[in-house]
Amino acid sequence: MARGNFSERMMRIAQLIGPVDDYISRSAWSEHREDPEACDFMFGNPQEMPLEGFTAALQKWLAPQNKDWFAYKNNEPGPRQVVADSLRDRLGLAFEPEDIFLTPGVFGALPLALAAAVDSGDEVIYISPPWFFYETMIMHRGGTPVRARCHPETHDLDLEAIERALTPRTRAVIVNSPNNPTGRIYPRETLHALADLLRRRSAEIGQTIFIISDESYRRILFDGRSFHSPVEVYGPTFMLYTYGKTLLTPGQRIGYLALPPDFPDREVMRLMVNAAQYINGYAFPNALLQHALGDLEELSIDIPRLQRKRDWMVSALREQGYQLHTPEATFYLLVRSPLEDDVRFTEMLSERGVYCLPGSMFDTPGYFRVSLTATEDMIERALPVFSAVMQAAAQPGGRPAPAPVPRTRPAGPASSR
Ligand SMILES: Cc1ncc(COP(=O)(O)O)c(C=O)c1O
Repeated sequence: MARGNFSERMMRIAQLIGPVDDYISRSAWSEHREDPEACDFMFGNPQEMPLEGFTAALQKWLAPQNKDWFAYKNNEPGPRQVVADSLRDRLGLAFEPEDIFLTPGVFGALPLALAAAVDSGDEVIYISPPWFFYETMIMHRGGTPVRARCHPETHDLDLEAIERALTPRTRAVIVNSPNNPTGRIYPRETLHALADLLRRRSAEIGQTIFIISDESYRRILFDGRSFHSPVEVYGPTFMLYTYGKTLLTPGQRIGYLALPPDFPDREVMRLMVNAAQYINGYAFPNALLQHALGDLEELSIDIPRLQRKRDWMVSALREQGYQLHTPEATFYLLVRSPLEDDVRFTEMLSERGVYCLPGSMFDTPGYFRVSLTATEDMIERALPVFSAVMQAAAQPGGRPAPAPVPRTRPAGPASSR
């Protein structure tokens, strides 16, 4: 595409987002995901009807109780109090309701943290493998994304890599725990060590380096594990949360950004975050979701069921010869691709109706990601396909044997790689 009158930065952002959007809008998956026989492991999307309590809560709060029911809403006191109570009860953390900024999920909260923390040319460190949009959201703010890889064996934060990435221009580090896609919960000791490092470096450069803590999967924990927020050990932390994972309703968008009581210059930061909400497209959740939040807060998808699916798939895939670790949390399995070309391998799966995300989409070539939001029925039908495609990949040229259910793939970026 010719640059023409477009800014170089926006062109680069569009080019980086293009492949993600291709998967969402133009891939074999997007064409076939509604097929009755499709086995959909692609994204953290629901594969069955929503929680009954979710629909009941929306129905209950839909009926207007006064003339302002659907008037402009910003950070309403009721839902702010719901969040403050939840943070106290679930995490033992004392937040003031005025420090809670309601957003359309973490998609809505992250640009607010970046807007408040980052000036043009500032650097923001993100951990790889990353969530798809960190890099582009940093760039959109005029910041420079700086990648630090996680520890390759443990998937824990690699503090030496973070230390190497720090410069006098570093303004923030994005931390995502529990992590998509590794399923790792960062231990409290690691967070302590990160906090010590950032305190030391902030003092050296004479300005605060913030943590932006993406806690989207905080309530999806396995094996009785507990979660620790960076907020527990580091005051200058923006805490980001979305209800879209716990409720598995990512199309009904509500979440928040919260500032802990020991956030530096909190009064000024409140003004900045609130200003960013207006400027970033009225980044408040819709009225209905705000009214319903008290009821929604109590609900969760069935975590023991998710854990059973994790256990089933981890052991079945290992038996078939796949290499993968056991995630501690989240919806995802991160699996080594039997072919070096993970895009090709996931195409071989999708030719047989099994849809997984290639690691190349999230800076992790040679791997693919499986979403455990797939149903048990999909898992049962997909496991023989995983096995057959593993064997086919071992053949010279990695060609699959004739597929039992032949399907036509649409022409499109995902299929032409
Ligand atoms: C790590 C991470 N952060 C943020 C988000 C965005 O969540 P939401 O769409 O609920 O705002 C996601 C969703 O996939 C995610 O996996």
